[in-house]
Amino acid sequence: MKDAVPPAPQPVRLADYTPFGFLIDAVHLSFTLHPTATRVKSRITFRPNPDASDRRFFLHGEGLTLISARIDGQDCAPTLTDTGLEAAVPDAPFTWEAEVEINPEANTALEGLYMSNGMYCTQCEAEGFRKITYYPDRPDVMAPFTVAIDSDLPVLLSNGDPQGPGLWHDPWPKPAYLFALVAGDLVAHSDTFTTASGAPVDLNIWVRPGDEDKCAYAMDALKRSMRWDEREYGREYDLSVFNIVAVDDFNMGAMENKGLNIFNSKYVLASPETATDRDYAFIEAIVAHEYFHNWTGNRITCRDWFQLCLKEGLTVFRDQQFSADMRSAAVERIGNVLQLRARQFREDAGPLAHNVRPESYVEINNFYTATVYEKGAEVIGMLRTILGEDLYRAGCNLYFDRHDGQACTIEDWLACFEEVAGQDLSQFKRWYTQAGTPVLSASWAVEAEDFTLTLRQDVPPTPGQPLKEPMLIPVRLALYDSGAEIVPDTLVLLDSPEMTLRWPLKDLPPLAEVAPSILRGFSAPVILDAPLRFGQRLALMAEDSDPFNRWEAGRSAMRETLVNHIKGQKFVPPGLLAMLEVNLRDKSLDPAFRALMLALPSEDDLAQACVDAGIVPDPDTIHDSRRAVRHDIATTMAAEFRRQFDAMAPDGPYSPDAPQAARRTLRNTCLSYLTLAEGPALARAHYDGATNMTDQIAAFSALLEVGDPDIAARFEGQWRDDRLVMDKWFMLQVSEAAPDAAVPIAEGLTRHPLFDWKNPNRFRALMAGLTAANPAGFHHRSGAGYRFLADWLIRVDQTNPQTAARMSTAFETWRRYDADRQALILGELERISAAPSLSRDLGEMIDRMRGDDA
Ligand code: TRP
Ligand code: ZN
Repeated sequence: MKDAVPPAPQPVRLADYTPFGFLIDAVHLSFTLHPTATRVKSRITFRPNPDASDRRFFLHGEGLTLISARIDGQDCAPTLTDTGLEAAVPDAPFTWEAEVEINPEANTALEGLYMSNGMYCTQCEAEGFRKITYYPDRPDVMAPFTVAIDSDLPVLLSNGDPQGPGLWHDPWPKPAYLFALVAGDLVAHSDTFTTASGAPVDLNIWVRPGDEDKCAYAMDALKRSMRWDEREYGREYDLSVFNIVAVDDFNMGAMENKGLNIFNSKYVLASPETATDRDYAFIEAIVAHEYFHNWTGNRITCRDWFQLCLKEGLTVFRDQQFSADMRSAAVERIGNVLQLRARQFREDAGPLAHNVRPESYVEINNFYTATVYEKGAEVIGMLRTILGEDLYRAGCNLYFDRHDGQACTIEDWLACFEEVAGQDLSQFKRWYTQAGTPVLSASWAVEAEDFTLTLRQDVPPTPGQPLKEPMLIPVRLALYDSGAEIVPDTLVLLDSPEMTLRWPLKDLPPLAEVAPSILRGFSAPVILDAPLRFGQRLALMAEDSDPFNRWEAGRSAMRETLVNHIKGQKFVPPGLLAMLEVNLRDKSLDPAFRALMLALPSEDDLAQACVDAGIVPDPDTIHDSRRAVRHDIATTMAAEFRRQFDAMAPDGPYSPDAPQAARRTLRNTCLSYLTLAEGPALARAHYDGATNMTDQIAAFSALLEVGDPDIAARFEGQWRDDRLVMDKWFMLQVSEAAPDAAVPIAEGLTRHPLFDWKNPNRFRALMAGLTAANPAGFHHRSGAGYRFLADWLIRVDQTNPQTAARMSTAFETWRRYDADRQALILGELERISAAPSLSRDLGEMIDRMRGDDA
């Protein structure tokens, strides 16, 4: 039962789309910056849109103080509401002029124009521009912008090409969500780039004074991205300058504003002493991602926010391709799949499951999800697998040619591929319109004259979608027998609920026991259920020529071992240990791949594995079993870990590049096992001798895990003045804490003077250290973890709803757990729901998570 609280916000529906009644020829904005009273003047030339029937002149606007409004030079008195204004306008071209006042300093939601460390910056995606001035704030309204900025601050930036001090013109029509403005006391790390057709581009990365020596890697990544997009997609940059600004207070990773990308400083600033190899890899990927949006997102944008995956899925796919080219393709693929399973499969299995292209939302910020981004990227990858590289390229080229300058839909995108391939993609389109992770079941047999392999698909029900149609699933597979590949890599398109493939025995060598290698390269985002014997999995760990499936074979053997351990069969099969050791020793393999083979499924993965095995997950048992198995691996293989730890010692001066990072990854994996097997001495020495953050953090984590009493204080003493490094300190103390200690430690840290909860990075570091990285601590049977999170969500929701809503997904798996824990979580969800002045963002998330229990 719900109390009589304010009416629930109405959802927006894809089916209700109508074009805006007017087109815009030009936008002129002038800003007079002031921390608490910024004035924004706009002059916008509108004309009736011949393709629209509704000529209501409604402009979005939120939290604005209207000073004046004029139409064609005449003062007018628009009707103001909480969400915007409406005015009577001529049925002919006209000029709208308005002046508004806004308060950047009071803007703690970090959406619109806000301040961070004395610097002004903006974040407009998805619907933040309406907090800057009155405007049709929707992505299908595109216009060229001219911006003038009046301020004493030395650096004044906006989109496009510079025209003079504080004056910018962006000739490329764009929607308002790509608008950006930055003003501050900033310094640039600069470089230049010449496009393939010879146009010079000035590149600048703007940071606070003192940080300019931490920009070299991001700059290098930018130049490589620009070259890569020219070479791989034929896309060149299109302005005389490309600016990147690093901001400490930022709700997400980064933002692709035209010509003026704004980044969370965590994805720009790096030095060997302060950034880990993972940080470097993220910087490279995110710089590329935002740069690639210049074409996939900016030159061609989305008609409405339901089409978000049109730009995000495609751009994630492109940044993954880029990283695969820059680094080890196999290691990148495995990393992407680990992320997909950890975040997207988890989302798809719970109450927040939604389509890659959702059909309704209350708050669009809640749909910047793993499903839209990561599953969206898998969908592009499948399209490429199904059509092949050449048709994929041709389809992309047609899309760029045909739709440049437009705001498009998934239908527009797919039509390009249907056209170049002469193929109907309506079944494929279900990947955009059906939620849930399909289960792909395989079975095989010798039947009379044939070897048969049967593939079956089941798409589970999801909220609002009880019944599903069969998907088009690209399945790459090969067959092994007795260590030999007897059927080479084959692409099968599963387009029906069930399909049987046949190979005449006469075409195969004599069979002993066939081991199919299915879903090679993870050719579709599905859950594979293949009844391989444990021994067959162990054999594929050494035999499979597909690196993804070679890793996957080990992964599934490990998962099976852990689930058995959780069920009470407390032993690690010697065959598995032997295979892990074979792999660890194999010098022909990339060290990063060897490290991945040694990593265990996470506690969250194991909780889902328990559910799949029909048992209610107990977070403590999962934690204990996982630790026990790690301990067994550590003691059995200690000698080899020691050898590899020595073999992977630095082979030259520090570089963040993939080959060196791979060596550090393997070395630090060995360190973590050796610390478990032999105690803290080696980790202490590693910590003391560390010359880079990768090694220091590895030693720090290992020491926290074994309970070193003073390592946290030492780390703090060294790094207390570095925000990004201190985020790691906050996170790791919580994530490495024993289950009973995690919540008390987290609570204690919220009282630390450096716990600035209004900074999203700091808040997330501490909270995710508990909720994502320490499930046994978060799910403590006392309910203390749930209460702790709920208290903070209620608090942060008052200042930054986006951040609170995002963090609330920690509760999305609540139905997995026992009745006591379910009741505790539901109690907290109800408490949040009843909190005064709950935001639309958090309110929607809580309602969706409660589902039928609301
Ligand atoms: N479009 C951005 C990206 O994918 C992400 C984004 C959406 C964002 N909304 C945001 C970033 C709000 C920061 C704040 O790169
Ligand atoms: Zn993006």
